[in-house]
Amino acid sequence: MPGGNLLTDKKIILGISGGIAAYKVADWVRKLRREGAGVQVVMTGDATRFVTPLTFAALSGRKVYEGMFDPNDVERIPHISLAAEADLILIAPATAQTIARLASGMADDLPAALVLAHQSPVIICPAMNCNMYLHPATQANLDRLKTYGYRIVEPGRGSLACDTEGPGRLADWSYAKEAIYAALTKQNLADRKVLVTAGPTHEPLDPVRYLGNRSSGRMGFALAVTARRRGAEVTLVTGPSELPDPPEINVIRISSAEEMAAEVLERCQDMDVIVKAAAVSDFRPAEYSAGKLKKAGAGFTMNLTENPDILKTLGERKGKSPLPLLVGFAAESGDFINEGRRKLREKNLDLLAINDITSKEAGFGVETNRITLLNRHGDQEKIPLLSKEDTADLIWKRVADLLAQ
Ligand SMILES: Cc1cc2nc3c(=O)[nH]c(=O)nc-3n(C[C@H](O)[C@H](O)[C@H](O)COP(=O)(O)O)c2cc1C
Repeated sequence: MPGGNLLTDKKIILGISGGIAAYKVADWVRKLRREGAGVQVVMTGDATRFVTPLTFAALSGRKVYEGMFDPNDVERIPHISLAAEADLILIAPATAQTIARLASGMADDLPAALVLAHQSPVIICPAMNCNMYLHPATQANLDRLKTYGYRIVEPGRGSLACDTEGPGRLADWSYAKEAIYAALTKQNLADRKVLVTAGPTHEPLDPVRYLGNRSSGRMGFALAVTARRRGAEVTLVTGPSELPDPPEINVIRISSAEEMAAEVLERCQDMDVIVKAAAVSDFRPAEYSAGKLKKAGAGFTMNLTENPDILKTLGERKGKSPLPLLVGFAAESGDFINEGRRKLREKNLDLLAINDITSKEAGFGVETNRITLLNRHGDQEKIPLLSKEDTADLIWKRVADLLAQ
């Protein structure tokens, strides 16, 4: 199933411990439910001092469990029955105390006992004062949790509720969300190094003007995010885009086609897969004016020169070796299958995704895409209209199959 629906009907246990950031995860409950997940909240005794269980019961639409010994629920053994039903356990915020409790395998409160009894993935989101976080005891406990296979969502840096600066702030939802998606996704790109390009390029004419295009970067960013979810180590080289850096991705921001070529060619040797989703300008102004060009009253003619064809250069460098796998994107407006087959051959690609830019629902600027995939042998696969994220995930599915061959 495409990535966007991954949380539909998933049962997530949200274990809340007694930190000031407990109020922030109230919003996470809503976000998880909006993604289609059912959320069962369990709280430590101290967590209930920060936010009332009533708030979480209202937001989750379920009874909140606060302890192992609930006199109103004697027919169930909550730490066993809830653990058995869960697809994933998310501990957020995780206090220093709760982290220590989990690291030592204690079972003296409901969240800790659940984690011991579970067989599903566990994600820990630490949040605390920076000195508490950086203390060797906390760091050793977190290292130990990693050895149990738990995912740690590193806290953010910044000013903390206790008026200090440093690491310890509960990670933003986007980081927690990616950890959840990754934990529920088959890691078939684990240990693979992937480079994705995204966005437009800006070809400077003078200090204030450039030649650009309408690419938003969404397709390339979606490719980077979905590759990371499948476990890849991702580098994203992007032209000017308003999109923020996605979690856990090495983002390199460039401006012109020549800068993009330099960044990509420097790294290509180390990669297992390169996906060129950027809309690199074919041309740039032949001359750059160091001063702002002025009106001369007689019109203006600009000479253009061709930019390097990065994909073609990669294809030539690749020669006959199987890696890196090369995946290209082509924006076409007519006869796109024959045009695509020509590009595939000429650029020595393993896969080509063709965008029909005449369609209003696909291509530049919109959230959705409708692509046709062509493989090395010229076989075509028409992909229906999907979100860019789902389109990207489907491309990775095909890439993972090619890598497995
Ligand atoms: C106002 C206040 C804020 C606190 N915030 C945090 C916090 O953000 N992170 C943390 O690890 N502990 C924090 N503590 C300390 C914990 O509440 C304390 O260690 C508690 O025993 C945690 O228990 P639990 O992990 O079982 O919920 C705070 C305490 C107080 C009084």
